[in-house]
Amino acid sequence: MCGIVGYVGDKSAVDILIDGLSHLEYRGYDSSGVALMTKNEINIFKAPGKLLNLIQTLRNEPKEKIDSNMGIGHIRWATHGLPTMVNAHPHCCNCGGLTLVHNGIIENYKEIKETLIQKGCEFKSQTDTEVAAHLIATEYGKCHDLKEAVSNATKQLRGAWAFCVMHKNEPFNIVATRKNAPLIVGVGDGENFLASDIPAIIKYTKKAIYLNDDQIVKVTKDKITIYNPDGTLANNKIEYLPFEPMALSKMGYKHFMLKEIHEQPDVVRNILQDKLKNEIDKIVLDDIKLNCEQLKNINRIQIIACGTSLHAGLVGKYVIEELTGIPVDVEPSSEYIYRTTIADEKTLVIGISQSGETADTITAIKQVREKGSHVVIITNRKESLLARLSDSLLHVNAGIEVSVAATKSYIAQLLSLYLFAIYTAETLNINSDKVREIKHELMTLPAKLEGVLANTSKIKEIAKKYSSYKNFIFIARGINYPTALEGALKLKEISYINATGYPAGELKHGPIAMLDETMPVLAVLNRGRVYDKVMSNCEEAYARQAKLIGVANYIDEKHQNLFDDYVLIPDISDMVSPALNIVILQLLAYHIAEYLGKDVDQPRNLAKSVTVE
Ligand code: G6P
Repeated sequence: MCGIVGYVGDKSAVDILIDGLSHLEYRGYDSSGVALMTKNEINIFKAPGKLLNLIQTLRNEPKEKIDSNMGIGHIRWATHGLPTMVNAHPHCCNCGGLTLVHNGIIENYKEIKETLIQKGCEFKSQTDTEVAAHLIATEYGKCHDLKEAVSNATKQLRGAWAFCVMHKNEPFNIVATRKNAPLIVGVGDGENFLASDIPAIIKYTKKAIYLNDDQIVKVTKDKITIYNPDGTLANNKIEYLPFEPMALSKMGYKHFMLKEIHEQPDVVRNILQDKLKNEIDKIVLDDIKLNCEQLKNINRIQIIACGTSLHAGLVGKYVIEELTGIPVDVEPSSEYIYRTTIADEKTLVIGISQSGETADTITAIKQVREKGSHVVIITNRKESLLARLSDSLLHVNAGIEVSVAATKSYIAQLLSLYLFAIYTAETLNINSDKVREIKHELMTLPAKLEGVLANTSKIKEIAKKYSSYKNFIFIARGINYPTALEGALKLKEISYINATGYPAGELKHGPIAMLDETMPVLAVLNRGRVYDKVMSNCEEAYARQAKLIGVANYIDEKHQNLFDDYVLIPDISDMVSPALNIVILQLLAYHIAEYLGKDVDQPRNLAKSVTVE
């Protein structure tokens, strides 16, 4: 979280920085700021809250203060210190000669701060970042070279960082470095860029250089010099960026989230066209580097992920176990890291992450790599750090997702897990009937998704009717239990309504105590293995006077009266139904939040990429 940008060239730095930050707002929106180099002086402008506040601030500044061709900018998701003006980046040393922006967490900032205070540094903010500003400035005082100072200072830090640093004595270059946090160098013609992520610079260049941990880069308008941690010159290659600026437009939708929900049929269609052309031929996953012998050697699978990706992983467990018979455990990355985990070369580990940047998942994957497990990464960002840590890669190819609440990337992750399960079963030559059935159902999915999205009036009606409720329970069983979890998460994230997902059978073991007419229960029912069981759980809720909402592909006549409201979806097999049911729950969450006037695309306190543990 937090986004950083840097620019050096001939154009107006402030315009490029603000534009860049506007494309990084998904990383945080607690405050923003820029530092501009003007004739050997650095001017800093900051504002708490959204970027719009900074833009307003800058409008009132005299032209000569913002007239600059070099600068750095930051958008904050608060970790240390309140989201206030004083804690907003850029931070600077006491004399104001050095300034920097930071994404990450400096874990040993307290110890360093104490030492720096003893040396006379005065701290203004509560951030960990300010420590780095004083520390690099102190080192600069010894060597008078910004690149050296950054190198010497970062050797004393623990944690994760991407820094862009400027010093008024070096008015023609920015120095930047990263460790366990993203930073790319955008390569321009007579201008160069730095950014946490591609959308910030894609308008200006399609060429970028990825930095390795602890490399330091010195960027002038004509030159990019990269140094390895030992000080030797590095030769990182220039890569071509994958995005089109078009992806960043709302295309007429009120919110990115709604646009992204509506993109889902095409997302699924693209994936299928690419990888699953018919029911007969074996699927080919080029970047999965596991042959039959290797797969036969696998005796367990562990899926590690966070948030929505974790819910996709839970669906994956059902599908992989059903098609391959290999036992699958699913665990939040943050829990996986700090316990004794049993993984070895017979374990296949699947890391799932939309962004490929989530710190918890990166740490967990680094751990399992040391144990010799084969690592499959499922991500929407094939150039990300996680992708680079993979032995096998499944690029979900959902296109850039702007809304903080994940929607199309979830469905793309589900598809990738289906494909992986099919690939494994086909390579092992097992369960061909089940494989064929799932393939068939997957191929019908885009049209069914389109059907659901073409007729959303009932969902809007339900959203309006239930928008004033303060609590919700989502229930389902079997492969749709994760759908209940994900549906509840969507509602919480964007409407701030307390919603909890439960396995429907667990309702009677505690949560049922909360049921009365103030607590709507949303049940996901799919005709299949557990339909009757979930219906019985609905009866239990009905008997406690809970308002009951059904999302189902079938409700028989005798049960219809149980439901205050229900949405019928096209008929679909149990196995593939999570990919269709979730769309109803995404839409429901969207319309409730929209009806309540919430900030749908940028909900409070959240960020799309969580680069801190
Ligand atoms: C954040 C986002 C969630 C996302 C989670 C995991 O919390 O707000 O939408 O599911 O991170 O992110 P990842 O990029 O690893 O899928």
